Parts: sequence; structure tokens; C-alpha cells
Amino acid sequence: MTATPTPSAARILERCDALARCSEQHDGLTRVYLSPDQRAASALVLQWMHEAGMRARLDPVGNVVGRYEGERPGLPCLMLGSHLDTVRDAGKYDGMLGVVTAIECVACLSSRNARLPFAVEVIGFADEEGVRFNATLLGSSAVAGSFDPANLDRTDAAGKTMREALSEFGLDPAAIPTATRRRDEVLAYAELHIEQGPVLEAEGLPVGVVTAINGGNRYAIELFGMAGHAGTVPMRLRRDALAAAAECVLAVERIAGAEPDLVGTVGKIEASPGAINVIPGRVRFSLDVRAPTDPQRGRAMTAMHAEFAGIARRRGLALDIEPVWEAKTAACAPWIQGQLGAAIEAERLSARRLPSGAGHDGMAMIAIADIGMLFVRCKRGISHNPAEAITEADVEVASRVFLRFIEQFRPKR
Ligand code: HGY
Ligand code: MN
Ligand code: MN
Repeated sequence: MTATPTPSAARILERCDALARCSEQHDGLTRVYLSPDQRAASALVLQWMHEAGMRARLDPVGNVVGRYEGERPGLPCLMLGSHLDTVRDAGKYDGMLGVVTAIECVACLSSRNARLPFAVEVIGFADEEGVRFNATLLGSSAVAGSFDPANLDRTDAAGKTMREALSEFGLDPAAIPTATRRRDEVLAYAELHIEQGPVLEAEGLPVGVVTAINGGNRYAIELFGMAGHAGTVPMRLRRDALAAAAECVLAVERIAGAEPDLVGTVGKIEASPGAINVIPGRVRFSLDVRAPTDPQRGRAMTAMHAEFAGIARRRGLALDIEPVWEAKTAACAPWIQGQLGAAIEAERLSARRLPSGAGHDGMAMIAIADIGMLFVRCKRGISHNPAEAITEADVEVASRVFLRFIEQFRPKR
């Protein structure tokens, strides 16, 4: 009886390195939706899926989908996934680790032609971060049936619409609805992902079980003042949009800092006309608000919006607040948490439960399946940063746990 091959952590890390080379950034990693780099990364993942004994394809929205049949063809599947796109100047593991590890686990099953009472699908979502078109979870929302067709008219920094980018990529925007999966096809959705936080490292644990994915809101905020000559307009007569925005940013920090686990971030800001000797007449900035509960997040947003309105009124500016995205807190199903926890405890490790402050594709997938997540420790909790790091030993444990979870998975009764 040949030994059941365990997942190769070395190969998982090598493949994350290979994907990291598919980047528009020559000195780091940036891979956005429907880019040439994403085409190169998708080709690698398709190849690895085929090598792992899966049928593999690009779906109409650009997700990479691999399927490993169960005891007989056409069975409902345990869907495993994560995302293949990145933020700007990203780390190598946010998203990619989950896709590559899932493929590695299927390769172990396939190497001994193990067939389970369900199919296993691995999906590499094409856009979770939302960097190119400022709309997140595009890949998973298409699979979950919640893709908003209005997204097709969103434009990137070069003014290209998502519709045009899809066609250039060789995909048909009109076919996106056919990417949707039915609840009866998917027994559960499970995602392995780096924690992107400090808890597991602080407690000396390689893995943990996610209890819920915190909900979030994203906005585009605009302040309209009066451009003017930097040398001639007295300070008391100015309607400086950037000075007003600065007050707003500090208000976000103060309100979010007043409550545990509530976070608020202004990640992008643009002042126009953007000349050194011109008082900024218009500013556009982003706002990202997250909290463990929906009521807490709602209260925080009401407070922030009221502060912005007060600042604008006092300074004689106009204010526009455009909601860009919202997702409720997504609870991980207790029955899946239990099966992930059992797979961890089989390693004689404690199955630490913890929430996710970061957003994930499970926020969309919960519409068609119960969800679960396995977190992997990352160095100092750093993420969305090239310093993102994990150890081969932790990947060894996490991939063994994930394979055990898959092999012992039993659908909810
Ligand atoms: O923003 C997030 O939490 C995720 O990385 N998209
Ligand atoms: Mn991310
Ligand atoms: Mn991620």
C-alpha cells in the first residue's frame, strides 16, 4: 500500500512564487482583474489543475474553475477557493495560498485515485480585491448569482469599461449569468487564507477556524470647494477642499478608534486640480468601514457622515457621499467550523476560533452555500504589503489539516 502522499508545502510555496512573477509591477506584485498578468496566472493555475487530475476551465467572468469528480460523475461538490487577483504592491499569499493549497490537496487525492462521495471543485476567483474597477467580489458574486450588471459600465483608471476589458480578455459579458451556480450543486464553500492579523502568531498557533467575516462598507466621498490662487486668497476666505478632507480623515480615525474591533480607513485621496500653487477646489477620497456586527457598523457610518456634513457646512463646501459596496457580516457555519476544528485537533493542536477583520469571497458565496474558513498564521500579521510572509512548516500543517478536512468532509444532515 503506497503511503498516502501528503501535500507538498515546498511545491505550494514554489507555486505562490511563480504566481507572484505574474505582475504588472517590475519591482513587486500587482495583478489586477482581466490584465495580461492575470491571463498568465490563470494559465498556470489551469495547468496545475489539469496535472492534479481535474477538468479545468475559465468561467464567463474569468474565474479559474477546476473539478475533481467523486465516486460517480455529476455529484454535488465541496467548493474550495480563494482569489487570484492582488492589491497594489501586494504580498504573495493573500488569495493565492488558498487556491494553490486546494489544488495540492486534490493532487494528493488524484495520485491515489481516491474518489469521495462528493465532487471537489477548486475556484480561483478573478477579482476579490476590486482594485481595477473599484467593485470587490466580482468573481464570487458572479458564481453566487449576485453580480450587478451595472458593474460592466465601471471604468478603470484609463477609462476602459469592465465590458470592454472582458471582451478584450476573450470573455463574453452577456454570458456572465451562466457563471452562477445553484445551491443544490454546492455542499459547502471552504477557503484557506492567511490570517492577515496578529492573533495566531501571538498565541503560537499555526492555524485557526474563522467564526465570521466582518461586514464592510466602501464609499466614494467628494468635497467641492473653490480653486484659487495660492498666493492671493486670504486663509479666512478659502474654501479649501483638501483641508476639509483632512478634517474628515481625522474624524474617521477618531470615531473608529473609539470602539474595539471597529475600523475605518481612507486609502485613496485625489485633490484637483493638483498644482502646487492652486488651492484644491475638489477632493475625492475613499472610505472603508468594517465591524464585527452590522449595527455597530451602521452607527459608525452615521456618525462619520454627520461629521463630514458638519465640516463641509462650516467651511462652505458641498459634499457628495456615494456608496460603492456593502456586505453584511458573513457567519461561518458552525457545522463547518466543527469539521475544520476536528481536522486541526487531529494534529493535536487547539482549534482556535477567531473572526476575520478582512473581507473574503465567502461574503458572496454565503448566498448559495454555507461557508467555512481555515486561517494560516502569517508573520506579524502583515498583509497587503510585500513583507507578507508564512513559513513552510505552517504550510505543511495547514495543508495537512485542509486535506484531512476534505477527506473527512460530510455534508450537513
Ligand atoms: O479588503 C479586504 O478585506 C480584502 O483583502 N479584499
Ligand atoms: Mn486582500
Ligand atoms: Mn484575500
